Amino acid sequence: MKDLYGRNIDYLRLSITDRCNFRCKYCMPADGAHLVDMDEILTYEEAIRVCEIMARNGLKKIKVTGGEPLVRRGVEGMIASLKAIDGIERVTMTTNGLLLYEKMEDLAAAGIDAINISLDSLNRDLFNDLSRSPASSDNFEKVVKTLDLPERYPDIMFKINCVPLGIEGQDLLQMAELAKDRPLHVRFIEMMPIGVGAQFEFVSQEDVLNIIKEKYPNVRSYEKKLGNGPCVYYEIPGFVGKIGFISAMSHKFCSGCNRIRMTSTGFLKTCLQYETGVDLREALRNNASDEVIEELIAQALRVKSKEHQFLEVDKKAEEKKDMSQIGG
Ligand code: GTP
Ligand code: 5AD
Ligand code: SF4
Repeated sequence: MKDLYGRNIDYLRLSITDRCNFRCKYCMPADGAHLVDMDEILTYEEAIRVCEIMARNGLKKIKVTGGEPLVRRGVEGMIASLKAIDGIERVTMTTNGLLLYEKMEDLAAAGIDAINISLDSLNRDLFNDLSRSPASSDNFEKVVKTLDLPERYPDIMFKINCVPLGIEGQDLLQMAELAKDRPLHVRFIEMMPIGVGAQFEFVSQEDVLNIIKEKYPNVRSYEKKLGNGPCVYYEIPGFVGKIGFISAMSHKFCSGCNRIRMTSTGFLKTCLQYETGVDLREALRNNASDEVIEELIAQALRVKSKEHQFLEVDKKAEEKKDMSQIGG
């Protein structure tokens, strides 16, 4: 699958639900996101069919996202089915971690290759505030417990996603130090102006690197890739894991974009920022042939934009969709 700019698209971010068991402040409005009706959400069979067609056209990697993917029943079976598709080399997931500990054995048995866990702070109060979790809940403890998993599942790559928010008390150095003794990588993600995320200023890669450099002046660039996404990595001598940066704001990476997204309702969204794409659900539900679906996918690739314009976003008039509806 190629787009108009010659980019090879071999990575699908597949959102399987718009539901989430958190309501993170930069991802959803306080009263929760608008949820679609369940019958609007693609069945696993429908989503798998799209993946099979894409795999015949060069798709190699699938990232399962949400909302929160682990809230959808049967997700393990879905992962196993995706892994069984001819041509699919890696199936990975990005999760908020809340249900991960209890589902881990099944996910490993299904053959999952890598898992990204979103965790923005090791400070319990801050975590609860950001994820809008009641102080009485054990959400924080449940997510922190998943930090033991990388050691127990050495064949699965674990990465932690941390979005720096420019707020007091966010323990970015401690977050980076999670990679010191554990076989996991910690990535810092620049906030993108999507949905309620537009209300925050992004903290740049450089700012976070400077915080790390103060204690670890030998931090240095690491050339190898550790996933399928746009992350660039650094290493700190003595650390088991690497430190990564996903810096869509300060280091635009669109020229190397290798991905498209499918929302849980079957919309092929060709860029994180824009609504350009093609709806596949209607065709899927009208018994369209594989050739028709293939042509719709090709049509979507033809409207994939060259790059995002996040820095030009008018914060009052920006895209209203929240990240939870897109899947990141
Ligand atoms: P791996 O490195 O293979 O694990 O993939 P990934 O980093 O793409 O996965 P993850 O779901 O953890 O995404 C991390 C962050 O990268 C999220 O904030 C995504 O929104 C962001 N991201 C992923 N792909 C793109 C992209 O094409 N454009 C932009 N602007 N951001 C992206
Ligand atoms: N900008 C950057 N990253 C975001 N995420 C959610 N909203 C935003 C945003 N506006 C992150 C989550 C999760 C990943 C899928 O995307 O923290 O780790
Ligand atoms: Fe938070 Fe992810 Fe849920 Fe959004 S989808 S509210 S970032 S856990």
